[in-house]
Amino acid sequence: MQRRIYLDQAATTWPKVPVAVAAAEKFIHDCGASSGRGAYASARSADQWVTAARHNLCRLLGGRDAADVAFCSSGTHALNAAISGLLHAGDHVVTTAIEHNSVLRPLEHWRQTHGVQVDVAPCDHQGLVPLVPAAQLMTAKTRLVIVSHASNVTGRVQDLAAWSEMAHQYGALLMVDASQTVGYLPIDIQRLGIDLLAAAGHKGLGGLPGTGFLVATPQAQAQLRPLMFGGTGTASEQLSFQPAWPQSVEVGNLNLPAIVSMAAAAEHWLREGETALATWQNPLMHLLKGLRERFSPDVLRIIGHPAEAVSLPVVSLLPSQWDVHEAAAVLDANFGIEVRAGFHCAALVHQAVDSHGTGGTLRLSLGHQTTLIDVDETMHALTAMFSGSREFGLFLANPPAAQQWEGRLAAAQSGRGLASTNPSMMRYAADSPLRRMHPPRKSTLNA
Ligand SMILES: Cc1ncc(COP(=O)(O)O)c(C=O)c1O
Repeated sequence: MQRRIYLDQAATTWPKVPVAVAAAEKFIHDCGASSGRGAYASARSADQWVTAARHNLCRLLGGRDAADVAFCSSGTHALNAAISGLLHAGDHVVTTAIEHNSVLRPLEHWRQTHGVQVDVAPCDHQGLVPLVPAAQLMTAKTRLVIVSHASNVTGRVQDLAAWSEMAHQYGALLMVDASQTVGYLPIDIQRLGIDLLAAAGHKGLGGLPGTGFLVATPQAQAQLRPLMFGGTGTASEQLSFQPAWPQSVEVGNLNLPAIVSMAAAAEHWLREGETALATWQNPLMHLLKGLRERFSPDVLRIIGHPAEAVSLPVVSLLPSQWDVHEAAAVLDANFGIEVRAGFHCAALVHQAVDSHGTGGTLRLSLGHQTTLIDVDETMHALTAMFSGSREFGLFLANPPAAQQWEGRLAAAQSGRGLASTNPSMMRYAADSPLRRMHPPRKSTLNA
């Protein structure tokens, strides 16, 4: 089987931190009961696992109290629980152009159905949302400010302390979408004055899919209406029941193996410290350096990532001669390199970064487990594809064609067979990374 290089870590990370997988397995084998549903021994044990999970996340994120953490099934669930739980008809919300659709679409729904007024602060061509234009959108009616800690398209990180100060100056609540950053960057909820933090637990943090969480201050918790109604394990005889936090968010059975995995990952990062959180920085620097050395911006544009800025290991590219979807398909089919092409569920950022007309970007997202060798192999593939003409890149990326070419090359070099009509192609093919990935075979053309 071809080696798999997984560079869609911004969607969900793979492979997971081993301690996270081990913890989920241990929970399934040793406990497996529901939490908050019974008084027998394994149900009490499940409650203890959940309490420990709240503690781990709270410590990792600099929260006030473990009881401020509510578990969700995804980042989308956490964001929707907060948006639909807080907003009232006629409220004003300020958000940004870098947001994921799990913020933009619920806001659009509330705008259409309840007359909520939504203003979107613009971002620059690197995905940074400058504060001055955002502050000009704030009014005395602004109830909620929602900002992503980092763009999932450009990786650019926002200055949360400044956003917090701005929101609070106007008496608004600040909600941060930390789906892309938790597990990659340190976050200190209390120091930053974040009122609500929503995140996925299965990305940089390293939990299994089906995890997310919402952390809210008591003031915000008190304002949240439930998103769903159902079993809570309490007041079961009552039909009309308004559960209090965290049940207002956690209605229904929790996905305990996944929650336990996320908590084990959080504990792992706490134990390993900030240096471990930043393991992705070397592969990111290696990738950016290689891209800048090999490609001029008119061949391959790298969106964002100026040297002076903090950015996540998310690199969006725009190849001038290739359709981004075609490039992703060739990387997958011919090199076993899994990347994403398109708009990445972020409807509004592409106008600003100039990737609307291109059908979005070719996004390479690295993670804790991405190695320098993965980056080198990716660089070789990109070089084979993008360095010459698009046709030649396609030709080199196609193993049967490339093998045939190598046959022609070997024959030409031995002076026996077909010579190349194009010397630059000859040189390029001789130096092709495909030579290593598909070792030269004996020529069948001149056998
Ligand atoms: C910035 C951001 N917010 C929210 C989400 C939604 O998270 P989930 O996939 O867990 O619903 C994503 C997922 O890609 C994201 O990148």
